[in-house]
Amino acid sequence: MEFDKFFSAAGSRLKSSKIRELMKLAGDPEIISMGGGLPDAEHFPFEEIRKIIDSWDGVKRTAALQYGATGGYGPLVEQIAEYVSASGVQTHGQAILPTTGAQQAIQLLTRVFCDPGDTVLVELPTFIGAVAVFIGYGADPVGLLMDDQGLVPGELEEKITGLREQNRSPKFLYTNPTFQNPTGITMSQSRRDEIYSLCSRYDVPIIEDDPYYELYFEGGPEDYRSLKARDKDDRVIRIGTFSKILSPGLRLGWILGPPDVVSRCELAKQSEDACSSSFSQVVAADYLAAGYVNQYTAKMRPIYSSKCRLMLDCLQKEMPEGVSWSHPAGGFFTWLTLPGHMDSEKLLLESIKHKVAFVTGSPFHVDGGGRNKLRLAFSNSSLEQIEEGVKRLAGAVRSML
Ligand SMILES: Cc1ncc(COP(=O)(O)O)c(C=O)c1O
Repeated sequence: MEFDKFFSAAGSRLKSSKIRELMKLAGDPEIISMGGGLPDAEHFPFEEIRKIIDSWDGVKRTAALQYGATGGYGPLVEQIAEYVSASGVQTHGQAILPTTGAQQAIQLLTRVFCDPGDTVLVELPTFIGAVAVFIGYGADPVGLLMDDQGLVPGELEEKITGLREQNRSPKFLYTNPTFQNPTGITMSQSRRDEIYSLCSRYDVPIIEDDPYYELYFEGGPEDYRSLKARDKDDRVIRIGTFSKILSPGLRLGWILGPPDVVSRCELAKQSEDACSSSFSQVVAADYLAAGYVNQYTAKMRPIYSSKCRLMLDCLQKEMPEGVSWSHPAGGFFTWLTLPGHMDSEKLLLESIKHKVAFVTGSPFHVDGGGRNKLRLAFSNSSLEQIEEGVKRLAGAVRSML
């Protein structure tokens, strides 16, 4: 049967991205993949999770294996509130909704805020998973330039006023301010002040998606103070996730924000998955209560930091002139700029012959740009793989010059 004519407009918009297709070519086990933004699989806190599960009494076993409320497992909501308060976020008067990963948080918020044709503001480049959601809902993501301090405030103001002249007002600004996916760039503290006050002046809600902020290699928590921590007029909705501080396999994140927004997300969630995994929620509640999160992040910071340092050193040593890259202060990624004429999709095909893979730049760009960019993840490769992978990539770049 031919189904095409039966698909909805939204169903027809669903397309496999070019990068997914290209990444399928990278299935060869000899290929060193620096593509996926995966946490270090060597160091998942498996023993801690085992201890947690072994300690469960009948009540917790039932809570973990039974359906749960859409609004989340109560003790988890309390633990998240305590955890985020420690980073300077005021939780009083705010609501928290556990979600099935940060990905579902983005999706619920988009569903609650956007009709087809609505404008949303995003960074250039921005998180690919968010772009897919915005496009899926028929929204129109408008890209904002960044520099090495993050989103450029003048650009934000210009875009907002330009849109207003066309009677369009953005539904929200979506930002990933700390060790951004894909660039690794961090929005400086003064920029955060400026961006917040511009959004306040022009009355634009902010969705702050901040999965990596605890994984810093330099400075301390005060250097990565969130937009939500500045939120005097209740306009910031903050997305968090357990994917980088516990395990992405649990598929657990959360939305923290004004109750009228969060309660709508909860209503939307009812018809999506009824509740996030009860099992994951009970594990995560106990993980936070036991203080394992601080132990884990303290352990992972130097591990990610040394992987990043090695990758940057290898890039410096191996890459031909004309290639540059970002210098992340935390997180999982560095972002490469190739010589202007070089196309990262063609380079990927060449790289696969050299047995190395990465993610191409253009899918992160909502303006069709980024052809000469690419993202490298250092998070889930061993030190040996990083060294060898960068060497192979440099070989592929040289063969295209
Ligand atoms: C910026 C950003 N937001 C959201 C996500 C999705 O996270 P989760 O695994 O919690 O769905 C990721 C994952 O890579 C990310 O980098």
